[in-house]
Amino acid sequence: MLQVEGLSKSYGRGARRKCVLDAIHLTVNEGELAGLVGESGSGKSTLARLLMRLEMMDAGTITVAEKGAFYDTLQIVFQNASAALNPSWTVQASLREPLRLMDGNRDAYIREMLGKVGLNEKHLTRLPSELSGGERQRVNLLRSLLMQPKLLICDEIVSSLDRLIQKEIVELLRKLNEEMGMAMLFISHDLKVVQSLCDRLYVMEGGRIVEESVKQDGVWNFSHPYARRLFE
Ligand SMILES: Nc1ncnc2c1ncn2[C@@H]1O[C@H](COP(=O)(O)OP(=O)(O)OP(=O)(O)O)[C@@H](O)[C@H]1O
Ligand SMILES: [Mg+2]
Repeated sequence: MLQVEGLSKSYGRGARRKCVLDAIHLTVNEGELAGLVGESGSGKSTLARLLMRLEMMDAGTITVAEKGAFYDTLQIVFQNASAALNPSWTVQASLREPLRLMDGNRDAYIREMLGKVGLNEKHLTRLPSELSGGERQRVNLLRSLLMQPKLLICDEIVSSLDRLIQKEIVELLRKLNEEMGMAMLFISHDLKVVQSLCDRLYVMEGGRIVEESVKQDGVWNFSHPYARRLFE
């Protein structure tokens, strides 16, 4: 679904130039739940922005198994659901917007999809400020799901939510993965969440992938000292 090879990115010029991503290699297979963990500042969101073509890379290749248009294949959900939603738009208006090119009955489709993320019609007339943090993140998630992407990138989407709501959203993602066969790159600094959701895991440190591990019989094996330390 997604293959990244030798991806590098620096910011700044001259003496202030700083390498943020250093020859990243990463694969997400079709329908796979892949995780990316790493400390704050290790480059996770920068990688996500490059994958979404929101910024240019310096070197490397990103291959997406595109079926149709790029943004029909790949979608992203950002951490800050409040900032991602227009504060003066109702939920319904926010959900209609990505569907503006869709043929057929958009509102019927929205109503049908609401249930998938645990929302209902009473939420449609509300403004983002009239929703809880968990509900806002569900709306945010649904906006991306409406396009039925083959790969969804989630950048710290549960980090600001309490443990219970986190668990609900993680369960929801698992269900969506099963029902829609959607692959995911789930980015988080929360190892617990990533370990419970994902089958493949990348650990990032200072702009490098230092570990790749695949869960075998429910067990993770790590060889790199940094990854081991994290998981201990
Ligand atoms: N536009 C930019 N210009 C200069 N430096 C940047 C820019 N964007 C990010 N950086 C730097 O790149 C590094 C990686 O940032 P990034 O946001 O990718 O980290 P992250 O792993 O997502 O962290 P967090 O877990 O806190 O979200 C940081 O040192 C950051 O200061
Ligand atoms: Mg980030």
